[in-house]
Amino acid sequence: MKSNLTRRDFLGSAVGVAAGLSSPGLGFSKAPAKPAAGAGLAILGGSPVRTKPFPSWPVIEQNDEKGWMQVLMTGKWNRLDGHFAREFETTWARMLGARYGLATASGTTALLTSANALGIGPGDEVIVPPYTFVATVNIVLMQHALPVFVDTDPETFQIDARKIEAAITPRTRCIIPVHLGGSAADLDTILDVARRHNLSVIEDACQAHLAEWRHKKVSTLGNLGCFSFQASKNLNSGEGGAILTNDEGLYEYCLSFHNQGRGRYNSGFGYVRNGANFRMTEFQGALLLQQLTRLEAQSRVRTENAVYLTKLLREIPGISPARMYDGCTRNAYHLYMFHYDSAHFAGLPRSRFLKALSAEGVPASGGYIPLNKEPFLKEALSSRAFRAIYSAREQAEYEERNHCPENDKLCERAVWFTQTMFLGARSDMDQIAEAIRKIQKQAGALARSQA
Ligand SMILES: Cc1ncc(COP(=O)(O)O)c(C=O)c1O
Repeated sequence: MKSNLTRRDFLGSAVGVAAGLSSPGLGFSKAPAKPAAGAGLAILGGSPVRTKPFPSWPVIEQNDEKGWMQVLMTGKWNRLDGHFAREFETTWARMLGARYGLATASGTTALLTSANALGIGPGDEVIVPPYTFVATVNIVLMQHALPVFVDTDPETFQIDARKIEAAITPRTRCIIPVHLGGSAADLDTILDVARRHNLSVIEDACQAHLAEWRHKKVSTLGNLGCFSFQASKNLNSGEGGAILTNDEGLYEYCLSFHNQGRGRYNSGFGYVRNGANFRMTEFQGALLLQQLTRLEAQSRVRTENAVYLTKLLREIPGISPARMYDGCTRNAYHLYMFHYDSAHFAGLPRSRFLKALSAEGVPASGGYIPLNKEPFLKEALSSRAFRAIYSAREQAEYEERNHCPENDKLCERAVWFTQTMFLGARSDMDQIAEAIRKIQKQAGALARSQA
């Protein structure tokens, strides 16, 4: 491994090395004078393209420790006693251009609170993408409403907004577009359909911190927008969430609901509605305020690297990076997503491509499975509560509508890189592309092997 690094250093930039490997067919470059880096595939015993880990996450500096200790030493750890969660939610709302912000315990509780604020309940239908984290769907089921899946636009990995109108019935109440991976769903089309059909929109921006649609921050364009600050997210406090809205009534409802249904200035025993405890702690609030000081700079680095990687990957046959809609003026790159076409890799199945990539020092995942086909959905629909609300005929009709063929195909071809891989040097991107090209060149040999 050591000699591999030395050779790469000697050869100069990793782009040059990769270029030497890019001629078609098996084996090495046609230029024999130039030794190929990590000539054999690492999965077959060769040297990996990359031995250095990608940047670690989260970034922890002195200011984080100071913020955390401040809360610790005050002894005011609950937001009803302190001011850090309050300061975070107002800062976050101001930064993103929303009138109201409410910190929550998680992205899931932000979504659940929003669904409650809109009065989504039994008998309602809510339009959701099948290509998302399960929380988007779970919160609909928790309201005893039906999640109606609209197929994915395979080019962008987002909900196919052109197919939403056909999925609307007299029961439809709400659309939950997810700005998946930090790119934006087609909000022009979604907001237009919602307006014409009098539907509410909850933007699931849990992966889209600072992402924009036509230069406005996503989460501020629908009725409510929700964030997650769970450990993997681009803004992280271990767990945490937030709701943004411009609607005072919805804000008041969310504030009350997430605090056991208390009235606004009441931390005692007076309740105006039913609710729950979905409050953020002061520790989370203080940490987020400190993590926030780096978010803009980190986001810029991610974007620069991701844009550069896209250029490199577009040159590789069989690799198609996710397209962004024209209206998406800023991508948060929480996930970097692309299609893998095994036909250009000697028929090598995706699972083996992922393993080979990982062996080259480039961790990658196959991403989501089709949520609309998952057993949890059948389980929920066959529960006593759902059977009491939806007749057997209604459930059968629902089953009949529940098909997302584009999404099914996408789930078999998708590959993801995570946001932390984009926080380092541009040469990291060169190595990612180099690893993919290396696998492509030797895909035949790998396909024939047992590895
Ligand atoms: C798209 C999406 N929605 C909702 C959530 C739920 O957020 P949390 O894990 O903070 O509850 C997540 C988090 O992974 C997410 O990615």
